[in-house]
Order: sequence, then C-alpha cells, then structure tokens
Amino acid sequence: MKNRFNHFFIAAVLLSLTACYYDHEEILYGAGSNQPCTDSVGTVSYAQKVVPILRTSCYGCHSGSFPSGNQLMGTYAADKAMAQSGKLYGTISHAGGYSPMPKGGAKLSNCQIATIKKWIDGGMLNN
Ligand code: HEC
Repeated sequence: MKNRFNHFFIAAVLLSLTACYYDHEEILYGAGSNQPCTDSVGTVSYAQKVVPILRTSCYGCHSGSFPSGNQLMGTYAADKAMAQSGKLYGTISHAGGYSPMPKGGAKLSNCQIATIKKWIDGGMLNN
C-alpha cells in the first residue's frame, strides 16, 4: 500500500514538473509580448494570419452557442463586428476601459497584436 502511494506521489510530482515546464514555455513565447515586434508583419490575410491567432487564443471561449460574455467570434462577420466596435483591439492591447484578453492567459505577442491591428487598419478584408 505504501509502495503504491509512493508511485502515485512520484507520478504527481512528475506531472507537476511537466506542468511547470509548459507554463515556462508559455512565458517564453506567449508573454515575450513585452518585446517589440521587430519582424515585418507583411501582408495580412484574414484567413491565413488573423484567424489562426484568434482560433488559438479566443475562439475556445467566444464561439458556439454560448460565447463567453456574450461576445461572439469565429466567423468573418462576427470577428469584423468585434473589430469595428473597437473591442477587438481594445481587449488584446489591454487598453483602459476594456477587459484584458485572452482572459486568464498571457497577452498576445506584440507581433500578433500588430498583425491584427494591420488587418483592422486595412479595412478588415475577408481575404
Ligand atoms: C478563457 C476564456 C476566454 C478567452 C480565451 C478569451 N476570452 Fe474574451 N471574455 C471571456 C469572458 C468570461 C468575458 C466576459 C467577462 C469580461 O468581460 O471579462 C470576455 C469578454 C470579452 C470581450 C468583452 C470585453 C469588453 O471589455 O467589452 C471581448 C471583446 C473579448 N472577450 C474578446 C476576446 C478576444 C479578442 C480574445 C482572444 C485574444 C478573448 N476574448 C479570449 C472569456 C475569454
């Protein structure tokens, strides 16, 4: 019995170590957000550049029948409407007066934010 408990304990410790390592990666790559975006953002395509960012960081909570905060995303029309309202950029740039998004997660990197801003400034094309 004691032995089994030890195994369980070791497994739990290993799992928590893995979890820490993973968090660490998120800090390195996700919240590397304090670094300025030095890459050129290039041509921004909604489908190829914007959607993958939103899918990874937002759609999980904001799509489907019961989107969090009643804020629907996940289709071109919905994403464009959020962008037009100013809420998309306000929330991802952590601007005052907006709830910072992604909720409970690391801020998007500056290059991701710059990509989305370029899409918005370019007229939110469905390209
Ligand atoms: C873990 C779930 C979760 C994720 C991921 C998430 N959100 Fe939210 N979001 C919420 C909840 C819950 C609310 C309502 C409560 C609030 O406003 O904080 C909300 C509210 C919002 C609002 C309204 C806030 C306001 O100030 O008007 C917007 C806009 C929004 N989210 C956009 C986004 C965007 C863009 C992303 C991706 C970068 C994102 N969310 C990621 C859960 C999430």
